[in-house]
Amino acid sequence: TKGRHRDHMGNEIDEQPLVAQRVVDALAPAITDGLLWRGLGLPPLDEIDRVAIIGCGTSLHAGRAIAGVFSRVGGLPTRALVASEAAHEVWEPRTLVIAISQSGETADVLRALQGLPAEHGTVLALTNNPSSSLARRADAVIDCLAGPEIGVAATKTFVAQVLTGVCVALSGLTVSHRADATLLDADVRALTATPEALSTARDTWRGPAATLAAEFARASGFLFLGRGAGLVYAAEGALKLKELSYRWAEHQPAGELKHGPLALVDAGTPVFIVDDGDPRLEVDIAEVTARGGRVIRLGERILRVGGLPLHLPRTGPSWGPLETVVPLQMFARELALRLHRDVDKPRNLAKSVTVS
Ligand code: F6R
Repeated sequence: TKGRHRDHMGNEIDEQPLVAQRVVDALAPAITDGLLWRGLGLPPLDEIDRVAIIGCGTSLHAGRAIAGVFSRVGGLPTRALVASEAAHEVWEPRTLVIAISQSGETADVLRALQGLPAEHGTVLALTNNPSSSLARRADAVIDCLAGPEIGVAATKTFVAQVLTGVCVALSGLTVSHRADATLLDADVRALTATPEALSTARDTWRGPAATLAAEFARASGFLFLGRGAGLVYAAEGALKLKELSYRWAEHQPAGELKHGPLALVDAGTPVFIVDDGDPRLEVDIAEVTARGGRVIRLGERILRVGGLPLHLPRTGPSWGPLETVVPLQMFARELALRLHRDVDKPRNLAKSVTVS
């Protein structure tokens, strides 16, 4: 059923705080003492040397966010791999493979798993369809609890996948000797604050997303920049914009700007910055504004002192500023509606990609 919006995508964006609350309520209590991890039958992290996460598109982005938890908190070498390229991987023993797919039917992901050596360790499937082909192939399955997603562009399944994967990772790390206890505690606290952060982002950006869409209706290209844990949300923002509006959008690590992409920036070029608190972003922003680029900054924490904005350093969770994806989704949708695109069924795309 359609709620406040005429399209499914708008409702699915709005639903994200609820979905996040559902995941946190279901999984956060089982993080402690590794209950969630052991309940899935996963081997102790001390028996694992590395984690490889595979997925496509938005699910790959969720994988990159989750990878940040294993590597930043656990010091575990973790890679997120494009499933369609995984055939060229050299698989090492003692690797935990996490395959992420909302449909569980993505052929590229299933094929990547076929390429795993037979003696290879555990495969965990993270999916929104626990009776899918992927779930049947995996050794362990976790449902991301997003509920049915009808819009072709993934929105609430992204948020659900990130939070589910974060809970699983944190649970594994609570019993691992390599985890940083301070970071782990901070992450568990940040997790419970996430539904609220998502709903604040949604409510704050409803008007501004439409205003920005009007301002940029004629822009031919968009840049999305981030550093560290913010980068994955820049990537997701660019992907949503491309698929919904059919405009060119590129994401880059902000540090790469001066190595090429800065040449794209001209008077009025829209440049979205996902701020994870890295102070070097100030220099990146100055480079863009010096060329007349129009910076839209997300994720920052600003205090007004005597009328002057004071940018606070932000130490966010190891999976980065997840709430920034909400305004990026909203902006992509608003721009697409303005351009008379079908936001629920973008051209040339399918909800489940069963060919590889
Ligand atoms: C983007 C999008 C696609 C999918 C990708 C993987 O909005 O929907 O990029 O994320 O095709 O699909 P699943 O998660 O079903 O494997």
